[in-house]
Amino acid sequence: MLNERELTVTARALVAPHKGILAADESIGTIGKRFAKLGVESTAETHRAYRDMLFTTQGMEEYISGVILYDETIRQESLGGTPFARLLAEKGVIPGIKVDSGTVDFALHPGEKIPEGLDGLRERLAEYRSLGARFTKWRAVITIGEGMPSRACVFANAHALARYAALAQEAGLVPIVEPEVLMDGDHDQQRCETVTEGVLHSVFAELNRQGVLLEGILLKPSMVVPGKSAPRQGSLQEVAEATVRTLLRTVPAAVPGIAFLSGGQSSEVATAHLNAMNKMGPHPWELSFSYGRALQEPALTIWRGEAVNVAAAQQAFRHRAQCNSAARTGEYTPDIERQQ
Ligand code: 13P
Repeated sequence: MLNERELTVTARALVAPHKGILAADESIGTIGKRFAKLGVESTAETHRAYRDMLFTTQGMEEYISGVILYDETIRQESLGGTPFARLLAEKGVIPGIKVDSGTVDFALHPGEKIPEGLDGLRERLAEYRSLGARFTKWRAVITIGEGMPSRACVFANAHALARYAALAQEAGLVPIVEPEVLMDGDHDQQRCETVTEGVLHSVFAELNRQGVLLEGILLKPSMVVPGKSAPRQGSLQEVAEATVRTLLRTVPAAVPGIAFLSGGQSSEVATAHLNAMNKMGPHPWELSFSYGRALQEPALTIWRGEAVNVAAAQQAFRHRAQCNSAARTGEYTPDIERQQ
């Protein structure tokens, strides 16, 4: 039987007032690339030291409701010897886990991707729950380009997201449903809006068809922005208005919260966009963050794999978390940004 109460309580706690989610679920390949840019070796031990720096940041629990972990991390202990999932739970931060196994080429559709990871997922979810996870994430990727996204890619991704969400709820784990429309390309903001609207319609149609409890999920969408190489970039207000308009058209009010990904936006821009959207509220759902790069980048750059940099890196991480917390209520200002 679906534990509706547990699912709705967890989902709401993840978008509690002033709080949002830290995505620290980079795969070994992704964290390796980020470390390589800074000349940091990528091993299980350096990953552990880096995650330890983030999670032991004092006071982060004032701003961070949950952390998405990667398979390697949920099995690791902090430098102090406490399993990471327990360390977070003891601070009142909910541990979560990425459960897709990454994307592969979508057959017969050059340039498009589909995640793997549904086979055996029921068993993996049960194990993750026993390791302390209370929520999960599955990331689907939609590419904008000539003839893309295809209807087939949008449908296949929506269908897989719903199958994942149903399995997660069956295991008592809140699914974060993440259909990311990539920022790559030179398309304008209108094209991103049209694609995002179509994708979200498709995702909610499939969630509905497969009986997923909307009160017990969170949506993790991308914002409606022009492509990274578009000649004209949108203003903060244009992005905020287009994103809120698209969500109002597609996301049922039963969904407790929408927690954006940052997708390659700079830390400050990601915060400013969230702030602008919350200034337009109240909205039918909480508008929050589930940022990876936009929460971590300044801290990672300071840390560089050196224990002597931990305190300064933690300070930078806490600061970004605090700025995004202020953006949850539209109270982020240049003054708050400057207070380090
Ligand atoms: P970014 O905020 O860096 O896009 O990461 C969020 C995430 O979890 C992507 O799957």
